[in-house]
Order: sequence, then C-alpha cells, then structure tokens
Amino acid sequence: MKIKEQLNYIEQVKNKFTKPHYYYILTMGCQLNENDSEKLCGMLEKMEYQKVENMKEADIIVFNTCCIRENAEEKLFGKLGEAKEFKMKKGTIIAIGGCMMQEPHMVKKITESYPYVDLIFGTHTLHKFPEDLEKVLEKNKIQDVLDIDGEVYEGVPIKRQDKKKALVTIMYGCNNFCSYCIVPYVRGRERSRKQEDILKEIENLAKEGYEEITLLGQNVNSYQGSGEEKYGFSHLLRDVEKIEGIQKINFMSPHPKDFTDDVIEAIADSKKVTRIIHLPLQSGSTEVLKNMNRKYTKEQYLTLVEKMQKRIPGIVFSTDIIVGFPGETEQDFEDTLDVVKKVHFEQVFMFIYSRRKGTMADKMENQVLEEIKHKRFERLKQLVESQIAENNQKYIGTVQNILVEGKSKNNDHMLTGRTDTNKVVILEGEEDLIGKTIPIKIVSEHMWYLKGVKS
Ligand code: 5AD
Ligand code: SF4
Repeated sequence: MKIKEQLNYIEQVKNKFTKPHYYYILTMGCQLNENDSEKLCGMLEKMEYQKVENMKEADIIVFNTCCIRENAEEKLFGKLGEAKEFKMKKGTIIAIGGCMMQEPHMVKKITESYPYVDLIFGTHTLHKFPEDLEKVLEKNKIQDVLDIDGEVYEGVPIKRQDKKKALVTIMYGCNNFCSYCIVPYVRGRERSRKQEDILKEIENLAKEGYEEITLLGQNVNSYQGSGEEKYGFSHLLRDVEKIEGIQKINFMSPHPKDFTDDVIEAIADSKKVTRIIHLPLQSGSTEVLKNMNRKYTKEQYLTLVEKMQKRIPGIVFSTDIIVGFPGETEQDFEDTLDVVKKVHFEQVFMFIYSRRKGTMADKMENQVLEEIKHKRFERLKQLVESQIAENNQKYIGTVQNILVEGKSKNNDHMLTGRTDTNKVVILEGEEDLIGKTIPIKIVSEHMWYLKGVKS
C-alpha cells in the first residue's frame, strides 16, 4: 500500500518537469548502502531524473551516508562544502540519507551548521523518497527520520549498477550489539524479507540475464524466513541454488557464532556458492572478543575454519579485523596476528578502532593511544601483504574461469574480472568479452591483482 502511494508521488514529481532533470548520487559505506542507493536511483529515474557523474551538472545531489567509522563524517562535511557552491549558484537541491542521519547528534549538526540542506531522510524512510522530494520541490525543508524500525517494503523501484551481478538484501538490521558497532542503533532490529519475495526477485534477475547474486544482510546466517516450518539461511541458499541462470552465489556477512552445520552442508552441496567465505574475525584475542560481545573465542573461530576446510575442499576466507579496541594489549594483538598466520586469509579488511557515540565500547575507559593503534595497524598490514604476495603465487600458471566485468579502471585498454576467490584479474581483450565467463591463464601477480591471458 505504502509503495503504491509513492508511485503516485513519482507521477506528481514527473509532471512538474518540462525539461530534463539530472541527479548526482554519492554512496558511502557498505554494499547494503549500495543496494539502497540502487533503490534511490530507481526512484529518481522513475521520476525521469537522469544520472550525472559530476555534482556541478545536477539538479539534485543525494548523499547516502555511512557512520561506521569517524572518517565517513569528515568525508560528508567536505562534500557538503562542495555542494554548497552549486546550491548558491543555481539552487541545486541537497538531500542526505543513510545511516548517519539515524544519529540524532548528526541531524542536529547538519541542521545547525549546514542549513542549506533541503532533505534529511533516514534508513527507515528511504522508500518515501518520492513523497519527501515532492515536498521539497514545493519549497519545503524536510526532515523525515524514524527512530523505530521500518517495515520491510517490497516493490521499491530499483536501478542496478551492473548487468550481470546483483545485490539482493535479504534482511535488515542487527540484533548483535557488538560493543564497538553503531549499526544496531542506526539500522534497528533484525527484520528478514519473506523467502517468496527474495526468490521471486532472484528469478526475475535470472530472466533478465543476471548470473551472480550477492545476498546481503548485517548477519545473514540469522536469516529467518516466514511460514510454519523453520526456514533459515541454509534453506534459502538451497532454494537460490535451484534458480536456473544464476551461476554464482555470494553472501555478506555471516557471523561466526551463527555459522551452523546446516549452512556448511548447504555450501558443501552447492555448485554455485562462492568458495571464498567472508568470516569477520574482528580480533584474535578471546579476551578482546569477549569485550567486543562477539560470543566466540579464538579457538572456536579456528575450529570453525578447520571444520569448513575439511568439509568444503578448496574453501578460502576473507575477514574484517579491528586494531586497537579498548584494552587491547600487546599479547591480544599478537593473538590476532597468530590467527592471521594460521588461517592465511585471501583478503583482510583492516580497520583502526574508531569511537562511536552511543556504543558500549565508547564508554570503556581503557582506550588505546592513537600512536599504538597506528603502529599495530602497520604491523598487521605488513603481515597481510606478505601473506597475500605468497598466496598469489599459487595462481600463477593456473586456468581460472573469469566473468569479465568491464574495462579496467586504471587502464582503459585492459579488461577486468574476478576469480572464484574474488581476486581481481586484469586481461587484454575486446570489449565484446564483457559479461562473458571465459577461461583465463594467470601469468603474473601484482599484490592486489593478477594478470591473465585467454587460455
Ligand atoms: N571501528 C572500526 N571498525 C569498525 N567496524 C565496525 N565498527 C567499527 C568501529 N567502531 C568494522 C568491523 C565490521 C566492518 C564492516 O567495519 O570490522 O565488520
Ligand atoms: Fe555491527 Fe556486530 Fe551487527 Fe556486524 S554483527 S552489524 S559488527 S553489531
């Protein structure tokens, strides 16, 4: 019902324009935000706005924000400074949405220090964007942020970024309250989409020619479908597997504490689920993990990895690690290095702990000095890079099936794709290979990417 109303607003906005209108969107943060931005683009394009890559050409500038770490705020303020110039010159509409707008102190700061912002919307009101924009076009300033969990809305228009790979959000919110993390406060409690809706979306994607799906959620393995019978993440994986046309299934992110045997079995039985599993470690120290409220120990994490390695031949892992959590000692940090050495991650996303207002960890008194955090970060980075360089060697001379995604960002004459283990591969070839999966022989390694030739 609510979406129907929004479709009416879409018509109203559309009818206001006699000449082409343009939008610019900047997405910060994770893939869930990217998927939300795809919905914003979908709604804007239904309103007949056209996308531009340069703020200066836009009639509306949309910032879809993230607040997971402090540097996201600095980035937004910088961008708002740039946007102001266009507001002054030609009255460009400025809209800010996303996680940061779910933080009351940030909304206060924006309204007080950046009064030229026209529209502030939150994560729970994203689907109301057409209605809010209609009001802004009537020269109102709008603040539309809900601090209660939004419902799950189906049918929001969507404009996907890619033609072969699609992001599919399966659940919203998080119940875990890891003590460093702001997400449960800005995205609310876990709400899963119905399995019928998810499967219908993926079937339609397959019909449109999509081959690769990434199932998204803050904690995908606590997915709970609807109905009388228990329907969890493993059931969903098995049902997505059956959809013809879909060749590859990724998911992001699971929580180690919820990685149950039925999910491991579903992956083991699958021909489509990726053989690189993102398994956020956060810290290798049992004491730090306890203070982070992660609910697993160093040993339990390592046992889970071993169990999966035994059951799923060829499986590899990527992870997230936070350095400098309050109270982290040299020994705790050594434990993190130890896990990295043992698991040999294919990829590690490394973060320096960032204090987030309202979280438990922000109130802890034993914060680690910035200098120590940075030194530890450098040590971790060195270890990870040496492991990656070593790991890359195993690809040389192998033939990998690569879905060619597009032109390389850094070199227009080269194409780019990824291995099954998510390694970037650069290759020479004609543009008509884009969208095709082809065998590629890996000939050299360059730390963050591999080079290949048609085999
Ligand atoms: N500081 C640093 N990193 C954080 N992450 C989440 N919260 C923080 C924080 N306060 C990291 C975690 C998470 C990833 C998405 O971001 O590693 O898995
Ligand atoms: Fe944040 Fe933990 Fe939830 Fe992930 S599982 S979103 S780190 S609270």
